[in-house]
Amino acid sequence: MNLLVKNIGCAVGIDESGRLCVSGKDMDRVGVLENAWLLTDGARIKDYGTMGCMPCDSGCEVIDAEGGWLFPSFCDSHTHIVYAGSREQEFLDKINGLSYEEIAKRGGGILNSADRLHDTSEDELYRQAMERIDEIVTMGTGLVEIKSGYGLTLEDELKILRVIRRIRETAPLEVRATFLGAHAVGRAYRGRQSEYVDHVCNDMIPAVAKEGLAEYVDVFCDRGFFTVEETAKIIETGARYGLRAKIHANELAVSGGVEVGVEHGALSVDHLESMGDEQIEALSGSETMPTMLPGCAFFLGIGYPPARRMIDAGLAVALASDYNPGTAPSGNMRFVTSLASIKMKMTPAEALNAATLNSACAMGESKDFGSITRGKMANFYITKPLPSLAFMPYAHQTPIIKTVVLKGKVVSLMIG
Ligand code: NIG
Ligand code: FE
Repeated sequence: MNLLVKNIGCAVGIDESGRLCVSGKDMDRVGVLENAWLLTDGARIKDYGTMGCMPCDSGCEVIDAEGGWLFPSFCDSHTHIVYAGSREQEFLDKINGLSYEEIAKRGGGILNSADRLHDTSEDELYRQAMERIDEIVTMGTGLVEIKSGYGLTLEDELKILRVIRRIRETAPLEVRATFLGAHAVGRAYRGRQSEYVDHVCNDMIPAVAKEGLAEYVDVFCDRGFFTVEETAKIIETGARYGLRAKIHANELAVSGGVEVGVEHGALSVDHLESMGDEQIEALSGSETMPTMLPGCAFFLGIGYPPARRMIDAGLAVALASDYNPGTAPSGNMRFVTSLASIKMKMTPAEALNAATLNSACAMGESKDFGSITRGKMANFYITKPLPSLAFMPYAHQTPIIKTVVLKGKVVSLMIG
């Protein structure tokens, strides 16, 4: 049944331009319509307008927003939601002074998660991941990218990707999958990194492609992980199998990850805590979306990406959660926008654009997601009445989302 939402105090994120992303100064502008209604047609947005000219509601399910605001669902273009258990022991190690790299060198970190995942059944992994999916749906996410990368053997990487496929088939939100075999060197290949890279290219990527399990390929291109040359080899192989690149770049050091991503037409380069002017220059005029994950900088206590310098240089930027057990154990995209405003001085409008249209673009999906546009997917949430757009990132822990609609269906109702 079609939905008619009436008495919307303010519909935010309206875009009629058809643009696929928003950059530079334009990031500080968000289309709004006050005192509005919105009508769906199945899974898509059909029309919207002001209350003075609302269409007849017969045959529709009607939602009265009672003056609440309507926002396009968050698009979270970078997560690692399929993992086993949690890693709060490392959280304690960090409190006691160890760095993320020191923990990884001791065999903790990603390898710790890989060991646990190996011992966890596909059903149990699915169950745990679905708890996290329910959590992010309630918090307003409507399109999510999920990476493998805690398998690090052919069998375990396929296991994660099959869990992602199952989530995709059963969860109310839209899901995209990334193969991240080059997240760390698997234990069996310790000391033989180049052989592991060959295994990723010769065995894993063909197997992933054969089962059609992923849209994208990712590499952790950073100090102590994979080199620029290894990254190029993996993303070139991925491209031959139809996988578009999304790169973990410049989290721990200026790694060359930005440049190799741009040169290979990557959809996005993500993290960017370590950025010089050369990297900003490399991104200018490219099709690659710089994506920032401030939840990671917050959790690790490292410096934040230079969002202001990037936007002031005219770039489009995206925001994502990085939801994972080691560096960002939260998928709360609203908190991500708060961090963007508080720590990176992004305006609330810039943060909203970065977490919706631009993060959809970082998945190549902004034709269908990321704004309130006729014909786009009917993915949105309705809040309580708000005093202003800035209230969203400002009151970052106040529960304000009342109704979530995904693909034209009400999927989650929260009281209060
Ligand atoms: O995006 N940096 C690499 N990968 C993840 C963290 C993985 C982990 O520690 O489990 C990230 O931060
Ligand atoms: Fe990540």
